[in-house]
Amino acid sequence: MTTLREEDVDRLRRDTPGTDAVVHLNNAGSSLPPRQVTDTVLDYLREESVRGGYETAAAHADRIRGVYDGIARFLGADAADISVTDSATRSWQAVFYAFRFAPGDRILTGRAEYASNAIAYLQIARRTGAVVEVVEDDESGQLDIADLERRLDDTVKLIAITHVPTQGGLVNPAEEVGALAERAGIPFLLDACQSAGQLDLDVRRLRCDALSATGRKYVRGPRGTGFLYTHPRLRERLEPAMLDLYSATWTAPEEFEIAPDGRRFETWERNYGLVLGLGAAVDYARRVGLPAIEERVTALAARLRADLSQIAGVTVHDQGKRKCGIVTFSVAGTEAAEVQQRLAAAKINTSITRPTSYQYDQEVRNLPAMVRASVHYYNTEDELRALTETVERLA
Ligand SMILES: Cc1ncc(COP(=O)(O)O)c(C=O)c1O
Repeated sequence: MTTLREEDVDRLRRDTPGTDAVVHLNNAGSSLPPRQVTDTVLDYLREESVRGGYETAAAHADRIRGVYDGIARFLGADAADISVTDSATRSWQAVFYAFRFAPGDRILTGRAEYASNAIAYLQIARRTGAVVEVVEDDESGQLDIADLERRLDDTVKLIAITHVPTQGGLVNPAEEVGALAERAGIPFLLDACQSAGQLDLDVRRLRCDALSATGRKYVRGPRGTGFLYTHPRLRERLEPAMLDLYSATWTAPEEFEIAPDGRRFETWERNYGLVLGLGAAVDYARRVGLPAIEERVTALAARLRADLSQIAGVTVHDQGKRKCGIVTFSVAGTEAAEVQQRLAAAKINTSITRPTSYQYDQEVRNLPAMVRASVHYYNTEDELRALTETVERLA
């Protein structure tokens, strides 16, 4: 599908039982899964309960392998480059904590960086003497490519940025960052947690060495799932910070061998029902079509921003040349928590985003706590109207 028509959206909503119950505009928190995902997980758990966990996994070994193929196609990668984890954070940490930083090594990141990543940089900087540098934004509010380029030299050991931040609709220019990083021979780690499933991602176009993502957000998978892409050129260089009998093989009493593929970042134990549910979500997204998803999500969010901007007292805070499905706003004289509660009372799900989640951004933007309405392709214009009308009554 290249464009989603009204009848396509109706059909996709029929696959999504939650759309009968709520107006779900918290897709950047955790979206409503299609029944194909929920059924996959529940069927598997039921089978495990009567057949045995190991026996069920063995019986579904081909399907489980297929999850890696599906994620690889979703990202334009090879199945060997994929690791399945339990969150975006675990995926990201598996790569970041595998780097060996020395005093004076520089880590370049952006103002939109996610809190957990920033905390990890600070921890490693304290422990190793590495230095964290925040690349400035340009006048549009996206990462300034010229500033990044000026900072590059052979002391930069890693460029790590967030594609779409938790605190807004910005889409950082990841492809331009990837092109620069590749030219300079510097590893590029992309946090695609908020973009995977709403934007059409291709690791060849992004030229990233590693990409981390979660299942529950725009991918519409189950909670407790995540995935990681690593380019072989990076994987060969990185020894995972932690190993087990799955990511490595104990080949002799004094020897072990680390798995060459994405398995080196995994551990033995996992919830295979959730893994299959993640696979079902990725396959579902691919059937809907990522270009069509991107087009509709972007258009719905643009519409919502335009409508909210018309309301006196409402400020929309999203920035960047390119914007996605996340819309953040505040209402003068009404706390974000109050707005969210009033929306929740009208069965409209949104979330709140607070400055402790984005200290680098806050340094230059001085934002209030904001309401975050994140749209997905299964949302409708009527649902957006329900939100703007409720906000209008508050403003
Ligand atoms: C930009 C970004 N990166 C990473 C994460 C963490 O994802 P997870 O909770 O799956 O670890 C989030 C979650 O909100 C996020 O917004």
